[in-house]
Amino acid sequence: MTGHVPPVQRALAMHRERWGAPDVLSRAPGRVNLIGEHTDYNDGFVLPMAIEFDTVVALSRAQRSSPSTVISEVFGEALLDDEREPIPTAHWAAYVFGVSHLLRGHGISIGRWRCTIATDVPVGASLSSSAALEVAMARALLHLAGESWGATATAELCQRVENEVVGMPCGIMDPLISAGAVPGHASLIDCRSLDMGPRRLPDGTVIAILDTMTRRELVDSAYGDRRASCERAARWLSVAALRDAELHELERMPAELAVERRRARHVITENERTLAAADAMEAGDAEALGALMNAGHVSLRDDYEVSGPALDAMVRIAHASPGCIGARMTGGGFAGCAVALVAADAADDFAGEVQKGYRAVSGRDASVWLSLPAEGASLIDSIERHTA
Ligand code: GLA
Repeated sequence: MTGHVPPVQRALAMHRERWGAPDVLSRAPGRVNLIGEHTDYNDGFVLPMAIEFDTVVALSRAQRSSPSTVISEVFGEALLDDEREPIPTAHWAAYVFGVSHLLRGHGISIGRWRCTIATDVPVGASLSSSAALEVAMARALLHLAGESWGATATAELCQRVENEVVGMPCGIMDPLISAGAVPGHASLIDCRSLDMGPRRLPDGTVIAILDTMTRRELVDSAYGDRRASCERAARWLSVAALRDAELHELERMPAELAVERRRARHVITENERTLAAADAMEAGDAEALGALMNAGHVSLRDDYEVSGPALDAMVRIAHASPGCIGARMTGGGFAGCAVALVAADAADDFAGEVQKGYRAVSGRDASVWLSLPAEGASLIDSIERHTA
């Protein structure tokens, strides 16, 4: 991106302008999920990778007499006078104050603080801007408190922020890949054991992120509905989670549970596809991986019913564009991004054709990004270097 000022410079400039140099800088990436959608909260398997878009937090301690303050370049400024106050759940700053609030519950506090936030992760585009924000904030606060937590503990804390503070009943995938991604690799995550197995992209392929430029609400009731359907199906099947159910068992479900049966069918087949996709990556078999991604889209569209006209159009157009090996919606669904596996030597043509085709069908200008699998969250050392 020509002339693009990196988020680390932007967060730092905002912090310096208001308060001087920060005590710590941290970054956490967004993610794109290659396959394994709506499986994480069913104790299943997912295969996401971190992307080359970061959220950066510049954080410093504040006087005890001043409120904790956050300034986001996207959302503006928010204050919290007393950290024991209830956090307003619908407010964007709940993601930030929620992290410090729950850390305090673990006996970890740096007292009053102030921070600035800059991000390149598009908000509401199914690329996990909220997990990137929470994970970057957690890394910065933990560092100032002299604590060092691993990716799993950090991700579990951030998932609790979503579940308990923001009111979004999401799974562990987004914070875990943001906190723990290995550069150059996607990760097969077992969402029960939280084991992460790095997988390389097949040689000669790249990942394209295709933004429909449609957006969803931050706390989406459809997400909670899907999760509740899965829990009802698991209860009826007498299993701890749909991870433990088998396809043939669904035949026993009564007609009045037809919706739950379809949701469960998606989850069971998606777990199988995700494990097969991880094997395909291990074998370097791009065609097999692409076919599994295509099948995943059909299942999300027809059985789980979380796609939508813009995502379906984008996936259709991707399939018809040069070099496409596989394409599907990614993330929670309804709006935001699709993901495609593309032959590297055709990637530029692919991007051009997708943009042309999508404009013709929707009248909107799609963004297409090619991303290598990026590194999970880290502290940014050498604040001075970025200040120079
Ligand atoms: C959102 C949630 C994740 C996951 C996906 C769907 O991104 O935050 O936990 O459930 O949707 O796979």
